[in-house]
Amino acid sequence: MFPDLTSDDIFRLETKRLWLRWPRASDAEAIAEFASLAETARMTAALPHPYPPGEAERFILKARSDNANGKALVLIMVQKGGLRPAIGVASATLAENQEVELGYVVAPHARGKGYATEAVQALVEAVFSLTNAERVRANSRTINPASRRVLEKCGFAYVDTGFDLLPARGGLHPCDRFQLDRKAFAEARAKAPAEISAHSSGEAWDGRVWSRPKRPMVQQIRETEKLIAAAGPQRRPEA
Ligand SMILES: CC(C)(COP(=O)(O)OP(=O)(O)OC[C@H]1O[C@@H](n2cnc3c(N)ncnc32)[C@H](O)[C@@H]1OP(=O)(O)O)[C@@H](O)C(=O)NCCC(=O)NCCS
Repeated sequence: MFPDLTSDDIFRLETKRLWLRWPRASDAEAIAEFASLAETARMTAALPHPYPPGEAERFILKARSDNANGKALVLIMVQKGGLRPAIGVASATLAENQEVELGYVVAPHARGKGYATEAVQALVEAVFSLTNAERVRANSRTINPASRRVLEKCGFAYVDTGFDLLPARGGLHPCDRFQLDRKAFAEARAKAPAEISAHSSGEAWDGRVWSRPKRPMVQQIRETEKLIAAAGPQRRPEA
């Protein structure tokens, strides 16, 4: 589903204020900090609560494996400017019918600043540009107006409300279902130019065409080296 480009852990998306990059072992502490909160888990389908020891590490390995296999694009949100810790996760996962399901979480201290919206917009742009997906779907618990608002701001259309299985919440819960199809996305996109770019192996994608990077490659390489050094030894998923 996802192309070779996103299956390499050097792939990253750049937005106005964020880097969206592959998860690393060194993100475990920051992820556990926000993912282990009851108020965060309550709104999600998959976050266990209580959050077991080692869960963040398990999540990182699974995310890296799914990214490498082209099944998903699970990216960590990091604020630009320095080696800052993860402030959230945004994911696009292959679901049935070649459709893509979105997920996102932002750490409480970073909420209300538009980061989820910025990350979701970038991820949706990448999905429609880099895959054949006809639509992107997202579900939000009916008790979660912040998530609903993020989807509305990203151009998603409300579809209906129904009971959805939220495995980590122990059963069926009422959820609002949203979708954004390729045509609606293209129409909205024609009116508003993208403010994102993607980087991988010296190429950059400005939301419309692949091109040489806006920044010199040597600068990109230095940034990547700094990030790798900060991340420490990497654990790679089993093939
Ligand atoms: C949902 C979530 C990702 C939003 O992250 P965020 O970075 O704060 O989102 P943004 O700042 O981009 O946008 C949030 C919007 O919701 C609005 N909002 C927040 N709380 C709200 C509430 N209780 N009622 C109505 N609107 C609310 C904000 O005002 C903002 O809209 P605005 O820009 O029009 O003012 C974050 O709250 C979160 O991680 N929640 C727990 C996990 C979760 O719910 N994930 C989604 C699962 S479907």
